[in-house]
Amino acid sequence: EIKNLEDIFEQRIANDEKIEPKDWMPEKYRKTHIRQMSQHAHSEIVGMLPEGNWISRAPSLRRKVALLAKVQDEAGHGLYLYSACETLGVSREELYRQLHSGEAKYSSIFNYPTLTWADMGAIGWLVDGAAIINQVPLCNTSYGPYARAMVRVCKEESFHQRQGYEIMLTLCNGTPEQKEMAQDALNRWWWPSLMMLGPTDDASVHTEQSMKWKLKRKTNDELRQQFIDQTVPQADILGLTIPDPDLKFNEETGSYDFGEIDWDEFWQVVKGHGPCNKERMNARVNAWNEGEWVRDAAVAYAEKQENKKVA
Ligand code: ACO
Repeated sequence: EIKNLEDIFEQRIANDEKIEPKDWMPEKYRKTHIRQMSQHAHSEIVGMLPEGNWISRAPSLRRKVALLAKVQDEAGHGLYLYSACETLGVSREELYRQLHSGEAKYSSIFNYPTLTWADMGAIGWLVDGAAIINQVPLCNTSYGPYARAMVRVCKEESFHQRQGYEIMLTLCNGTPEQKEMAQDALNRWWWPSLMMLGPTDDASVHTEQSMKWKLKRKTNDELRQQFIDQTVPQADILGLTIPDPDLKFNEETGSYDFGEIDWDEFWQVVKGHGPCNKERMNARVNAWNEGEWVRDAAVAYAEKQENKKVA
């Protein structure tokens, strides 16, 4: 019977039909979705920290409002994705437990420090730019709740990318010191942004199966190339130099060739040894512990309302 269910499932994937929470699905399909979607949710939540660092120091009220809205959006994306993940039968508590115990992964990119205001520009431009490239194809992923969540997330990411690019543009049209600050931010965020899109296809353990299930619609290397091709002309408009001496337009492929990525650095960061891994985890665990009284109060209040109804 399982064989039959599996055939029907495969046929539905082949027909580009969405798989919904109550539909039969192979256990591995469920597990790999829980893995990717929860990592994605954790990334949104941890991703609030590097930028949260600058909310109180934004250079103007307008910048502060935009940054605050952006960080709030990320909280929303995280909650949205946790909810979508819960439809696969895993509880929110368990997902938080995995994050707080260090068992769960979240994106490598959020383990780098935000040293200057220009980092807010570079993150919006590059990190959100890479996130859009990665997530637009996910609007078409095979699992219904994930695909639908991605539509709204991508619209908001697009605003984030623009606000970042506009910060860069303002700095690059400013004083020489401001432009230098923008260049310095690009120098520090460029390579980690390329790493963010995941290991090369030959080192990516999940790509083959995830492409078959239409969880992933493009490979890590395809997305990375697309990101580079899109971003280099944007750097030209800013008058900034991408910190890669091997970067060169290839007439034959119509794409940019680029230099060697430091994969040792990537795996170090993924394994918890990046510049800010400990700081990020501490911040999340402390927020959880300090919020305990709020959760207790909410539960006590809900119980009280429930008892009133009974009485
Ligand atoms: N940071 C941390 N871990 C990573 C990263 C990264 N940038 N890229 C890959 N990994 C991990 C994978 O999670 C996997 O580990 P696991 O087996 O313990 O889960 C391992 O490295 C091998 O990588 P892949 O086989 O290539 O993994 P996968 O097929 O899941 O591809 C990718 C990775 C592209 C990140 C995919 O999971 C994805 O598209 N996720 C959804 C988007 C997302 O999470 N974005 C997060 C940042 S965007 C943002 O929050 C603004």
